[in-house]
Parts: sequence; C-alpha cells; structure tokens
Amino acid sequence: MSGNGKTRAASGGLPAGAGGGSTADGAGAAAGARASAAGGAGAAARSTFLAACRREPVAHTPIWLMRQAGRYLPEYRALREKHSMLDMIGTPELAAEVTLQPLRRFALDAAILFSDILPPLRGMGLDLDFVPGEGPRIGNPISRTYDIDVLGTPPAAEIMAPSIEAARIVARELGGGAGGDAAADRPGGGEAAAGDRSGAAGAIPLIGFAGAPFTLASYAIEGGGSKDYAKTKALMYTEPAAWKRLMTKLVTVQADYLLEQARAGASALMVFDSWCGIALGPTAYDRFIAPHTNALISKISSAGVPTILYTAGTGAYLERVVASGADVIGVDHRIDLAVAWEAVERAVAAEREAAGGDAAAGTTSGGSRPAGVPPSIQGNLDPLALQAPPRELRAQVDAVLEATGGRAGHIFNLGHGVQRETDPDAVARLVDYVHERTAESRGAG
Ligand code: CP3
Repeated sequence: MSGNGKTRAASGGLPAGAGGGSTADGAGAAAGARASAAGGAGAAARSTFLAACRREPVAHTPIWLMRQAGRYLPEYRALREKHSMLDMIGTPELAAEVTLQPLRRFALDAAILFSDILPPLRGMGLDLDFVPGEGPRIGNPISRTYDIDVLGTPPAAEIMAPSIEAARIVARELGGGAGGDAAADRPGGGEAAAGDRSGAAGAIPLIGFAGAPFTLASYAIEGGGSKDYAKTKALMYTEPAAWKRLMTKLVTVQADYLLEQARAGASALMVFDSWCGIALGPTAYDRFIAPHTNALISKISSAGVPTILYTAGTGAYLERVVASGADVIGVDHRIDLAVAWEAVERAVAAEREAAGGDAAAGTTSGGSRPAGVPPSIQGNLDPLALQAPPRELRAQVDAVLEATGGRAGHIFNLGHGVQRETDPDAVARLVDYVHERTAESRGAG
C-alpha cells in the first residue's frame, strides 16, 4: 500500500491553510502530496465519485467517509481548542479549513462540508448548543403543539449564511461545483484546478448536506440524543396533525438550505436520517416519515445534482428508502451489502412492473430518479474496523467489496461516522487499500 503515487494533478496538493492559522505540520505537508485528483490520469480524469453516483464505470471505487473531518484528526483538535463547535461552523474560513483538512492527508474522492445537521434548528427558534463530552443539546425543546406553531421557517440565506459561504470557498478551492446558478460566475478555482467544473480533471466534488426531518424532529423534541424516542413518538402518535406541521416546516427549511448549498457549488446533496430505522419499524416509517423525507428528496432534485439518502437501521425495510427516489442510498454496517443490493433490485423491479414493464417510464414517489433505474449504494464498513489490526481491516474491506458483486454504482464509505479514537494512519490505509484493490480488480492497476 504505497498510496503516494497519487499526487494531485498539476498542483501537487491542496491550497494550504484557508484561514484560521496554518495547521500544516510535517504530517500535513507530506499528506498534501497524497490528496488525489479523484481518479488520476486518463479515462479516470473525471470525478469517480460523481460517476459512481450515476452508476457509470470508474477506474477505482471512490471513497469518502462520514465525519472525515473531526476529532480523530490532531489538526482538527488543535482548532477546536481555540474555537467552539458553533463558532467553527459560524465562521466560513474556519469551516472551509476544517472541510479541507482530511483532503490534505488522504486521497479521498469527495469532500463534505464541515457543519452539522442541527444548526438550522437555531434559525427556526430552538436554542442549540454542543455540550463538551455530551453532544448536542436543545435548551427549549418542543413539548406542546404551540411550540411547533411558533417555529419559524426563515430562508437559509438568512440563517445558514456562514455555511453557504464556506461551501462557496471550498468549491472554489477544490475546483468542483455542479453548475448551479452561481457556478457560472464563480471565480475560476484555485491554482489546483482553474476553470474546472464538476467532474472535470483535478476537481474534487463537495457534498452539501442537511438532516432529514425525522432525525431533526427527534432532537427538537427530545432536547438531545435519545435511547427510546419516547417523547418524539408520543407527539407523533397523539398529535399527528401537529407532527405533520413540524415535518413540513423542517422540510421547507432543509430543502431551501440544500438548494443554496448546490448554488454555492456543492456537487451532490446528502440527507442524513440517522435515527429513523433505530426508532421506527416499516409501518410507522410509511406513515410518519416517508411522505416528508420523500418530499425533501423531491424538492432538492431540482438542483440537478445527485441526491444521497443515508439511513441507519432500515435494513428490514430498505425498499421504502429506495422509494424516496434518491440517486444514492447510504446504508449502515448492520446489513450485508449483498442483501441491501438485492433489496434495491427487488424494489426497482417492482417500480418497473408498476410502470408497465417500461424502464424509466415514470418517476419514483420521491425524487428525480426515474422508476426502474437502480440507485447507487454507499457504504458500509463498520467504523470500528478502523480500530482493528491492519489485517482485520483489510479482511472487512474485502468483504464489503465482495458483497457488491462487482456492480457499478458503489461508493465506499463507513456505515456511520469515523470515531474519535480512530488512528489517522488507519484511515490512510483504508483509502489507499480501497483504491488499489478496486483498480486491480478492474485490470487498471
Ligand atoms: O461528516 C462530516 O465530516 C461533515 C460534518 C458533520 C458533522 N456532523 C460534524 C460534527 C456531519 C455531516 C454531521 C451530521 C450529524 N450530526 C448527524 C448525522 C450523521 C450521524 O453521525 O449520525 C447527527 C445525528 C449529528 C448530531 C451530532 N453532532 C451529534 C450526535 C454530535 C455529538 C457526537 C459527537 O460525535 O461528538 C455532533 C457533534 C459533531 N458534529 C462533531 C462533528 C465533527 C464533534 C464536535 C466536536 O468537535 O466536539
């Protein structure tokens, strides 16, 4: 696993230190040379990540990791010592810098904006804080229907301006961007990729994201994390009309925020529903979640960039997630990827049948993916495999790759976020191993 022949075309690395003081130490400088132009030379000069989102053939399987920027990186911890989580999210230069940190070290195929799913809740009127050692906390959680009725739905340009600006900075640095409204007048990239557009040589795509309405509602109602979602379910089951109003408001705000991120240069849009499958079974998913999540996916599909829906714990009813119409389905590590793929194929065959045997004859209930056209799958290595010995890590990676059965449209990721105890060297080994193994198996390595 050399991992070093992958210098970024033409530039030899990403621009250093976009504000917030340089974090480049010895490791950072060496790592700069590792940052990859997502696919290297020749046929693979376009973004492997975006190609895989469209199930096109790729020279190697693209990989990025949920929480790839975070406390396992010493350069992140160094910034966090000086700034609170909300300050970092609220300062575009700092958020951009943190977004780029993992790309300087690892040959990742995509960047994800540094922020969190919860800050939009502040703009709606909830007091959010990140409590050290505890996690997110809402000071004034929703406890009655009146609290829902007074929630605001202000535009993202007003309440999430720093994150939108951070997306603009990162897209410029990475030479990505999807050609939304703002793409045409975006300055022509950094030295790394002047004039590049999404998928062009040298560009690393930026993923914009937001929380799904259920996961956001659970924080808004529970006031923080939860084991049983008792308050959320009490509201959902006893006040279904108020629940619907809450979900509708959340969808309005997140859709606007995601579309703004695309306009700022995000090349893909991801929706995180971390707790839906942990909290609810298929019937409740159909009644209380799917209409709203699907509406969100549908609204953001107008951005014209791939949509990704990540859910955890939905292995028993993945076909319902597929019906969202998202272009990419993110799955957690509690399901065998082969089983996930079979569920997707069954769901898509049923769509085709419903459309009268005609592939691509209609649209799915949610997004823009035509009925009968399969989505890509993103996942699903156990995050704790990164803390296993290298041989065990490789064995688990092999098992994930094997489970894809060589299908097009696999984006390698973890089943959940990188844990803070993870050794950055293990992440480097993972990224390089996935690239090398999959390039070999395509006869390109
Ligand atoms: O993936 C990325 O690198 C992009 C940034 C990102 C963060 N959170 C940064 C973060 C993203 C996409 C998220 C999503 C998020 N946040 C989700 C959905 C995905 C998932 O992990 O399930 C959820 C449920 C949250 C809510 C949240 N934020 C929790 C529960 C916590 C505390 C737990 C923890 O890991 O600390 C956070 C804080 C948080 N979000 C941190 C980071 C880097 C750590 C903050 C710190 O520095 O102290």
